[in-house]
Amino acid sequence: MSGSGTGVMGGDYGRHAAAQHAGAQAASAMLGRALAAVPVPGDGRAFRAADLGCASGANALEPMRQVVAAVRGRDGSVPVWVTHTDIPGNDFNALFATVTGPGGYTREPGVFACAQARSFYERLFPAGELHLAWSTIAVHWLSRVPRPIDGHVYSSRSTGAARDALRAQSAADWSDFLEHRAAELAPGGQLVVVGGAATDDGLSGAEGLFDLALAELEALVAAGGMAEDRLAAMTVPTWNRTTAEFLEPLRSGPLAKAFRLEEHEFVVLADPMWLRFAADGDLDAYAHEVAASFTAAFGPSLFAGPAAAGPGAAARFEAGLAARVRTQPEAGAARWRVQLLRATRLDAR
Ligand SMILES: C[S@@+](CC[C@H](N)C(=O)[O-])C[C@H]1O[C@@H](n2cnc3c(N)ncnc32)[C@H](O)[C@@H]1O
Repeated sequence: MSGSGTGVMGGDYGRHAAAQHAGAQAASAMLGRALAAVPVPGDGRAFRAADLGCASGANALEPMRQVVAAVRGRDGSVPVWVTHTDIPGNDFNALFATVTGPGGYTREPGVFACAQARSFYERLFPAGELHLAWSTIAVHWLSRVPRPIDGHVYSSRSTGAARDALRAQSAADWSDFLEHRAAELAPGGQLVVVGGAATDDGLSGAEGLFDLALAELEALVAAGGMAEDRLAAMTVPTWNRTTAEFLEPLRSGPLAKAFRLEEHEFVVLADPMWLRFAADGDLDAYAHEVAASFTAAFGPSLFAGPAAAGPGAAARFEAGLAARVRTQPEAGAARWRVQLLRATRLDAR
């Protein structure tokens, strides 16, 4: 199956992003240490933070409030300027509604938010402008799918040449990401990443869910709800890196001279939807939420490519996936693996 999607989230992402919220939460202490270490400008210039791969901004509110509070705690007069970035297809209207809305963080005087619609695999800021680069659950989205995956839509189920090509694309993308952040961060600037990760066997923790999704896509084709060649053209363009893959460019070579790796931690996140189901036993609500969250994160990649699957296919898929989760609730639970890492930009220009 080949590359169909771009990584953009569905319109409902902000309402169905509890799993991703757990990723950002896991890094809040690490963000605190970054904010204690980062130099805060003392010359009237703004403290500049970037939220890279922001989607609707729902999961950026807590960390950006933390940024504002920490900078204000160190110097109450420093303006804080946050740039939320994502690819051009992102719903930036939803982003601005979120960050300026009732739960937003921009209401305080001297706090500014703006956005940049460009891939984080490109340059986003002038040299040395940024103090903090923050990214959660976004860098596992690849810039492209290098070649088709046979028989599945999910990269962790790829084998052979397709797997090698995806791993190579992931290495190139991660290196591009780090190179651009190295150029953009001021000396002492902090990079904090919560990246979709894999254990050494290449598994992300969501294989059961993706296998259910594939079974439902195949059923959709069998029932005439979608063309077979459409399924063959579907791939979710992600690669969950192992710890070694995340750390390799920071341990040797030019990027290891640009950054000092301060800390890293591999975390297996609990599935918040499964936890709620375990507490309330509401199987229908659980199945519906799992399917809605899956569609919010991966629906556009699967259903909105150049050869779209046809009207109604995405909705039929979501209903069918919910039915499968109802019969196999444990398979629908995703214990996502994430890599947290923090690095300091060294003054080596
Ligand atoms: C799962 S969402 C995570 C959003 C948010 N950071 C969170 O934690 O909820 C992944 C986001 O990464 C964005 N993304 C994917 N590829 C990207 C790229 N090359 N450059 C910038 N953003 C990208 C997607 O559009 C999406 O908004």
